[in-house]
Amino acid sequence: MSLQSFRALQIFRTKHISYDLPEHGLKRCLSSWDLAFLGIGAIIGTGIFVLTGIAAATQSGPAIVLSFFIAGFACAFAALSYAELAAAVGGCGSAYGYSYAAFGELAAFIIGWDLLLEYAISVAAVANGWSGYLNNALTNMGFGLPDVLTKAPQLGGIINLPAAGIILLLMCVLIMGVKQSAKANNAMVAVKLITILIFICVAAFNVNPDLWHPFMPFGWFQTLPDGKTTGVLAGASLVFFAYVGFDAVSTATEEAQNPQRDLPFGLIGSLAFCTFIYIVVSALLTGVVPYTDLNVSSPVAHALTLLGFTWASALISTGVIAGLTTVMLVLYYGLTRIIYAMSRDGLLSPFFSQVHEKTQTPVRVIVLCGVLISLIAGLIPLGELAELVNIGTLAAFVLVCFGAIVLRITQPDLPRPFRTPFSPLLPVLGMLSCGALMAFLPAITWLRFVVWLVIGLIVYFVYSIHNSKLAKAS
Ligand code: ALA
Repeated sequence: MSLQSFRALQIFRTKHISYDLPEHGLKRCLSSWDLAFLGIGAIIGTGIFVLTGIAAATQSGPAIVLSFFIAGFACAFAALSYAELAAAVGGCGSAYGYSYAAFGELAAFIIGWDLLLEYAISVAAVANGWSGYLNNALTNMGFGLPDVLTKAPQLGGIINLPAAGIILLLMCVLIMGVKQSAKANNAMVAVKLITILIFICVAAFNVNPDLWHPFMPFGWFQTLPDGKTTGVLAGASLVFFAYVGFDAVSTATEEAQNPQRDLPFGLIGSLAFCTFIYIVVSALLTGVVPYTDLNVSSPVAHALTLLGFTWASALISTGVIAGLTTVMLVLYYGLTRIIYAMSRDGLLSPFFSQVHEKTQTPVRVIVLCGVLISLIAGLIPLGELAELVNIGTLAAFVLVCFGAIVLRITQPDLPRPFRTPFSPLLPVLGMLSCGALMAFLPAITWLRFVVWLVIGLIVYFVYSIHNSKLAKAS
């Protein structure tokens, strides 16, 4: 990166962009534990409560624990680079800002465009998981919805109505303006963790070790005749979704009491904790019911129902419904802020950065995203959505690792409160492992991803390059 573009970055940081920051400046009020809880709040969701079942039944078998371990390792390498860049580049606090620092505007745009895909589709995917648990709870109460109203057309239904509906509901909440507070987040994390604890306590006393054999029924990796992929590595590429969201911790750089110490703790701590929980839960899940029975929309609750613990199943469904709602809200909120920021920087139309006078929220963006995501959530099944999120997120992680290496070379004197150990070895391992997980995703996911990027490039060269405020500032 040239010095000129780095200066542009400084202007960009101080004058133009503060999309992940409150308007009135920031208090350094978050402790390392608050940051870890923030991470856990954004991380634990559909991945563990729903995708574990799909991945165990169709890709990994009981070796789902290995899939979680592998995906967790790839994330850990990326987390170190995130920690370094978050502490060095500062308040921008996202891959969008880091890419600008390391590579300049085009890369920043591509990453921003990529993040739009990640956030929008993950909200739709989590809505699918939410819908599965809601319907499970309704069924237990005798009001279960028919399949045509809970499944995407590809799975034999007409529309996943609860998934589409919850997005529209959250759209209204966001229009009114929602302030996420660390306290509320901590409370929701507690609900999620209690839910998981109940499952662990009940399942631990009902394990049948015979169910862990065969351990790897689908092998390490193979491509099926229909183009789908299977095996432990393909499972790792799918359950990677369970880790999406840990990067949210890096957006709190400016609010950390001591970023140098707290950020790495928050990022690595929440990741390590979630990896541990995921391995325990998935091992128990495949130890209490045959893995072949887990391809359902609410596998954790389903497993407890099969064991005869209907009360625990109902409790878990309730906890998951509440827990997934906050994951969606945070991701949807993040999405609207990224579009708002790109629009304010001139990379997208100013139409999107209009803030409503009364509500003080970017209503146009919220409504547009809400309607689109609602349609996607209602009409496309969860597995495909999750894979699309993963390829986008993994691409962002590869670039963040690469950015950490490039910035060390181009800006060796930039103050780095946190330095990734063994650099460039660990960032290179991050690039390789995240790149490998991308490679294990099906060809159709790659095709969709490339189409999305090509659309992005067209938008950039037709519109953004001529309207960029960042370029004018430098
Ligand atoms: N990691 C989040 C989830 O699993 C996106 O729902």
